This record gives sequence, structure tokens and C-alpha cells, in this order.
Amino acid sequence: MKFGFIGTGSMGSILIESLIRSGALLPQQIVASNRTASKAERLAQLHPGLQAANTNVDVARQCSVIFLCIKPAEFKNVIDEIKDHTTASQIAVSITSPVLIRHLEDRLPCKIAKIIPSITNFVKCGPTICMYGSRLSDDEIEQLESLLARFSRPIRVSEQYTRITSDISSCGPAFFANLLQSFIAAAVQETGIPEDQATILACEMLLGTGKLLTTGGFNPESLQQRVAVPGGITAEGLKLMDEELHGIFNRLFRITHAKYEEDVDKASSSLS
Ligand SMILES: NC(=O)c1ccc[n+]([C@@H]2O[C@H](COP(=O)([O-])OP(=O)(O)OC[C@H]3O[C@@H](n4cnc5c(N)ncnc54)[C@H](OP(=O)(O)O)[C@@H]3O)[C@@H](O)[C@H]2O)c1
Repeated sequence: MKFGFIGTGSMGSILIESLIRSGALLPQQIVASNRTASKAERLAQLHPGLQAANTNVDVARQCSVIFLCIKPAEFKNVIDEIKDHTTASQIAVSITSPVLIRHLEDRLPCKIAKIIPSITNFVKCGPTICMYGSRLSDDEIEQLESLLARFSRPIRVSEQYTRITSDISSCGPAFFANLLQSFIAAAVQETGIPEDQATILACEMLLGTGKLLTTGGFNPESLQQRVAVPGGITAEGLKLMDEELHGIFNRLFRITHAKYEEDVDKASSSLS
């Protein structure tokens, strides 16, 4: 069974690397194309056996599962190219949030899945958000998820929550890295601690916090309670954070959702 990738930019190549490094797929099972051919060719050099295809149609013709790892504006071109070379037995997997499952079901004969990976998948960690069209069987869904489970935790969500789940799991690494950067910069400014020392402490702390919250039996509330003894230093810090950060994430989600609505409208009109 061959797996195709149309678009080997940031996310396409992360997905390919993750699938190979986790042992989920052999390079020989992968066929990849990219508008700038050198990107797919580079992957073929890195992973002997992986086939860099000359055209998207070559990918569509050869593969049972086709990952569409392109930006929304490119969907019309790619779909127009491949639609007559795909069949009802194939699965097309989009990784692009504003392109709706029904857009793809209307335009391709394939079974349609939408998965939103996270950059955390590169280190065999983090979630993959999964949404499915009506044409996939339960068995096919299980097979796809067992592949994704080799490098991530697949989590099924309803398509109406595409944006918020993407904000949390795909944008989240950038949002929390931003908070961490401010945390480190303030530590350096306020105390003169060497930046590299503050950075390693903060990053190891975040890794451990993630483990406590996923496998360590804590949730965000119980972890704060455990660390912050009443009247202690952490409790003082948390009080300030509650006051100063109040509402920031509500505003952030409103901004991402407004942008998403624009992107969905653009994607819909570009596909019509
Ligand atoms: N970045 C993330 O963390 C993340 C997470 C989840 C989902 N996503 C979604 O994944 C999608 C891709 O994002 P990205 O960050 O990987 O973007 P990217 O780095 O720009 O990659 C897109 C790739 O698609 C290629 N491409 C464009 N048109 C093509 C065509 N007609 N045929 C074949 N290849 C074509 C581009 O080729 P060129 O080399 O010629 O530009 C580029 O390599 C986006 O919709 C994004 O929302 C991203």
C-alpha cells in the first residue's frame, strides 16, 4: 500500500519524517510531490526508497492514501489536477483547517479525512486532531488512526470545533513558547541569571509539567493546588497571573476565530 504526499513544505515533511522515524511507514511506501520539486527530491535523498514524483497526478495515480499538505489557496489547483485521476477507493487526507470536508467530498470521488497535525508530532508526541467524512468505514478510520498513533495521540473531534482544537494543539506550541520566552526574558532582566541557564530550566520544567498533566495524575487545577501552598510564594505569583492575564485567551480565541471565518470564506470561494 502506497501513501502519497502532495506538498512537502513544513507540515508535509514533518508528517513524512514522523511516519518514517516512528517505523509506521517504510520510505518505499511513500510517494511525494511538491511545486518546487527540489523539496521532494531532498526527502528522497534523505530517505532512500522514497519516490519524488514529477507531478501531483503521479502521486494520485499510485497511492491508496493521499495527504494534501498544501495551503488553502492551493486546493483548487491541486484538486483540478488530480480529481480525474482519483477513485472512490482512495482516501484523501487534508491537513488544512479552513477547507471543509464537504468541500472535498463535493469535488473528489475519494473518501475524505481531515487531520490537523501538531509540530509536537515531530518528537513523537502531542495530539493529531482527526475528523472524518461520511464515506470512510470504521475499519479505515481505525487503520488511519493506528498509523497516526505511532507518532501522536489521535483525538477525534467534530468538524465544528476545527478552529479551537487547532488553536489548542497546533498553534498552542507557539503560544506557550511565546509565554516561555517572556518568562525567561524577565528572569534574565530581573536577576541577571545567564539566559542559557534560565532557558534550560524553563524548558525542562515545561516538559515535566506536560508529563505530570498527561501521565502524572494531575490536571491544571490540581497541579496549581499542589505547588501553591496557601500563603506561599507560588500563590502570590498565581494571584498576579490571575489578575493580569484575565481574559487574554478569550481575546486570543476571538481573533483566531475571526481570521478562520475569513479563511473559510476565501477557501469556499476559491473552490467554487
Ligand atoms: N505549520 C503548522 O504547524 C501546521 C499545523 C497543522 C496544519 N497546518 C496546515 O498545513 C498546511 C501546509 O502548511 P505548511 O506550514 O506545511 O506550509 P508550507 O511550508 O508553505 O508548505 C506548503 C507546501 O505546498 C507546496 N505546494 C504549493 N502548491 C503546490 C502544488 N500546486 N502542488 C504541489 N505542492 C504545492 C509548496 O511548495 P513550494 O515549495 O513551491 O512553496 C510548499 O512546499 C496549511 O494549510 C496549514 O494550515 C500547518
